[in-house]
Amino acid sequence: MRLIFLGAPGAGKGTQAQKLCEKKEIPHISTGDILREAVANKTQVGLAAKSYMDQGKLVPDEVVVNIVSERLQKPDCKKGFLLDGFPRSLKQAEELDNKLDELGLNIDKVIYFSVDEDEVVRRITGRRICSKCGENYHIESLKPKKDGICDKCSSELYQRNDDTAETVKKRLDVFKKESMPLVNYYKNKSLLTEIVANKSIDEIFNEVIEVFL
Ligand code: AP5
Repeated sequence: MRLIFLGAPGAGKGTQAQKLCEKKEIPHISTGDILREAVANKTQVGLAAKSYMDQGKLVPDEVVVNIVSERLQKPDCKKGFLLDGFPRSLKQAEELDNKLDELGLNIDKVIYFSVDEDEVVRRITGRRICSKCGENYHIESLKPKKDGICDKCSSELYQRNDDTAETVKKRLDVFKKESMPLVNYYKNKSLLTEIVANKSIDEIFNEVIEVFL
């Protein structure tokens, strides 16, 4: 099972990817998570990526393509993988195709989560993340039992640097310009399924599961 999750920031890709990867026991490869870890560890990649991420811009293709190429060659990807947030431009999609050809692999399905802009802004500005275990919350729709504290490990929750209303607007502009063309790219390859994601997390997950029936 080799999958791609496409969608605007806040469409719910990460939330659904985590659930599906747990169920199917495949690695969840989120370029956003990998880059944030690199930033936190102040690696060379992290130092190069930080200012792009803080401004809501795409990190240069060659940086991200290298990260994914290396990751796909790890042994756990032999049983399949889910790419979340990659590819994000036509150039990245073409580079991914080249890499998969080289490895003798192909993508089985691409799910595009469509959601309206107001909902994106609501979801992103309300998102909170556990500083220790990375668990995801929302101040209205996925509240922790105790305000600001993770249910799972009792650590503090924080807001991502790029989750401000201003940066969300920029990220949405970038999505429309750079990533929307991927919808047609994968439609033309007969790989795309669209899921309207203005629903509850469980309702969307049921539709995700149906894609594989
Ligand atoms: P990345 O981390 O990939 O961010 P993103 O694509 O903007 O996506 P998000 O994580 O914001 O949203 P999501 O769709 O995963 O939603 P989530 O499930 O978390 O990228 C960050 C940055 O890294 C980029 O801006 C760029 O700079 C760089 N980058 C990453 N990949 C790159 C690439 N390939 N090339 C170049 N640069 C790259 O949900 C959001 C919130 O909503 C949560 O609080 C959640 O609880 C809540 N929620 C989810 N679903 C629902 C629902 N159905 N109903 C109500 N609330 C919901």
